[in-house]
Amino acid sequence: MKYQFPENFWWGSAASGPQTEGVFEGDGKAQNIWDFWYEEKPEKFFNGVGPDKTSQVYKKYLEDIQLMKETGHNSFRTSIQWSRLIPNTQTREINQKAVDFYNDMIDHLLANKIEPFMNLYHFDMPMELQNKGGWLNREVVDDYVFYAKTCFELFGDRVKKWFTHNEPIVPVEGGYLYGWHYPDEVNLKHGVQVAYHEALASAKAIEVYHSLNLGGEIGIVLNLTPSYPRDEKNEADVKAARLVDGLFNRSFLDPAVKGHFPEDIVEWVKENDLMPVTTPEDLQIIADNTIDLLGVNYYQPRRVKAKETPVEISEKGILPEDFYDIYDMPGKKMNPYRGWEIYEKGIYDTLINIKDNYENIRCYISENGMGVEGEERFVNEQGMIEDDYRIEFVKDHLKWVHQAIQEGSAVQGYHMWTCMDNWSWLNAYKNRYGFIAVDLDQDGQRTIKKSGYWFKELAEANGFD
Ligand code: BG6
Repeated sequence: MKYQFPENFWWGSAASGPQTEGVFEGDGKAQNIWDFWYEEKPEKFFNGVGPDKTSQVYKKYLEDIQLMKETGHNSFRTSIQWSRLIPNTQTREINQKAVDFYNDMIDHLLANKIEPFMNLYHFDMPMELQNKGGWLNREVVDDYVFYAKTCFELFGDRVKKWFTHNEPIVPVEGGYLYGWHYPDEVNLKHGVQVAYHEALASAKAIEVYHSLNLGGEIGIVLNLTPSYPRDEKNEADVKAARLVDGLFNRSFLDPAVKGHFPEDIVEWVKENDLMPVTTPEDLQIIADNTIDLLGVNYYQPRRVKAKETPVEISEKGILPEDFYDIYDMPGKKMNPYRGWEIYEKGIYDTLINIKDNYENIRCYISENGMGVEGEERFVNEQGMIEDDYRIEFVKDHLKWVHQAIQEGSAVQGYHMWTCMDNWSWLNAYKNRYGFIAVDLDQDGQRTIKKSGYWFKELAEANGFD
């Protein structure tokens, strides 16, 4: 069977500034929470590798853009680093070196017919702002809006696709529940306030973007993790799965697309004494400023069952897990390296949910991918990693994307996570996701993997057999 995709389908990959650029003397970048956390607790990072030693994109972007061409990209998402562009959040002075870097990268992408998609916030709170509470502090919403406006004014003449956040639920989970992000607190009430401020910041940035009439589109990138009950006929399982979907998906999807928070979640938040500080004006801003375009990151499903294990509420307060258990489904297909389930149909279910329940808003797969540890063992005699597993993974997901398109989904493209192996927060370089290998021992030397060459054929044919 031939899987042919609509004309002008976006083929490419996604990355982020903090995971790729690196830190170089004299670049004028200030610390963000990752630079700070690494300085404080380097042992937390896999093999002790920190954000300074990323793939050196700050220096190598011209070479990288050629590699993107060789791997079939017609589009590419990265993010601007707030702490690079506005190192001093008091004076708000713009770092000209950052402007020159992003300008040159954008210009070269366009000259090579690769459309730049630009994200604003990818987990990288400037440390100065974190010191006053980060997303917990309402003032930071205004700092963010200033940053967003600055980006639109500087680069919006050429960048026509903007995203306010990447996976805004992750800083909530990572920073306020599960310890993967600084400030590494366990405090759900704080988490709810952070989520609220992120959603408000997004709406405010959208308002500014639209007021500037730059002729492009703005959206948000969400990691939508479809929640499946253990047993669809068991009411308690279904209820638990619905709550999980509300907490982790609809909490951002609904305000972004529909302009309001989901009622069942607002109720749950009230019942559990977790209400954030809000104002009626905020809610109007959220209602009036919804997205033009949705980015969907899809990696894995969540399998849920009703709570069976006893709940012991600690002095740190309640956690989402007090209301459900994760269902370890027998026989599920796993990516053993990352420990995530592979469930290809989840991408289809997500797209159909968007079609049926979210106005069939224009969307694209903004991340999908497979992290594998120890890929060196797949290197062939020519020095190329033969990552056939990744090719299979992409094909198996694309078949379901194709099916969703047949059924009317407005999905516009598919971006892999990621272009070249990059630094992934506490996991550092543990799991490799790229089309292009990066050798950290050889000054970040790049080598295209088999999947990269395959992706070029896919993009050129706009489909596969
Ligand atoms: C995505 C994030 O969710 O997952 C990326 O947007 C991240 O920033 C990627 O790098 C892979 O994560 P991990 O945890 O497997 O290294």
